[in-house]
Amino acid sequence: MIIFKEEILHKSNTIGGYKLEDNNHHYLLKEKFSQGAHEYDRQRKHIIPCLEDLYEITSDLAKVNTSKPRILDLGAGTGLLTSHIHRKYPDGDYILLDLSEEMLNIARTRFENLPDFHYVIADYLKQDFEGQFDIVVSSLSIHHLENNHKRILYEKVYQHLNSGGVFINADQVLGPSPANDEEYYRNWLNKIDVGSLSESEKTFIFDRMELDNPATLADNFEWLEEIGFVDVDVYYKYYNFVVIYGKKI
Ligand SMILES: C[S@@+](CC[C@H](N)C(=O)[O-])C[C@H]1O[C@@H](n2cnc3c(N)ncnc32)[C@H](O)[C@@H]1O
Repeated sequence: MIIFKEEILHKSNTIGGYKLEDNNHHYLLKEKFSQGAHEYDRQRKHIIPCLEDLYEITSDLAKVNTSKPRILDLGAGTGLLTSHIHRKYPDGDYILLDLSEEMLNIARTRFENLPDFHYVIADYLKQDFEGQFDIVVSSLSIHHLENNHKRILYEKVYQHLNSGGVFINADQVLGPSPANDEEYYRNWLNKIDVGSLSESEKTFIFDRMELDNPATLADNFEWLEEIGFVDVDVYYKYYNFVVIYGKKI
């Protein structure tokens, strides 16, 4: 593994438009989420103060004119967000895409015996999306990408949405100024339930946060609108946690 990482760091080559350094970032993300997969669901509610709001509002906003929508969850992980959308659209067709097989295996168990659930282990930037979707959602995943890659992903989502389709991203943003970010961080430290986490879990979670790379809300809006999304809005905001919406007409 170490050789692999060093190879990446010492080459300035590109593969399919990706710098190898980017692949290193993705490799680390995959490793971190795979290692933490079994503890993930239990830890989440202790470290994201508004977790249920993010899922509930994303699910509320996922409104389309069919009771059997085709739904793509980008960075679906263990399927926490998908399970909320599934309560609303039990007859939908679900594609869960994630870098980490271990995370998706937990989703597979969660949705075992349910028809119309499909799992794709891949990087959502590199993976071709098959066909068109009515709803594309993502939660707490896209903020890991470099900003230019966030925009590329938003374009890809737009291309694969049906007319009338919606994209909802429940995610983290960067504050407009460092002072805002300090306030976000101060509040987060006050609100998280560290007492429910072991020392090693805390270290692991703080290490994983090193891979975060949020963009400002303003940048997210600009990219979505430039691409062609309409009704772009932030329907929910709790400090740095947001639910961003865009529709394709
Ligand atoms: C914090 S978890 C969120 C999982 C789930 N959406 C939730 O709300 O619990 C982030 C997930 O995004 C996945 N991820 C990060 N970058 C990705 C990429 N480029 N392609 C596919 N999955 C990615 C990780 O493997 C991880 O499972």
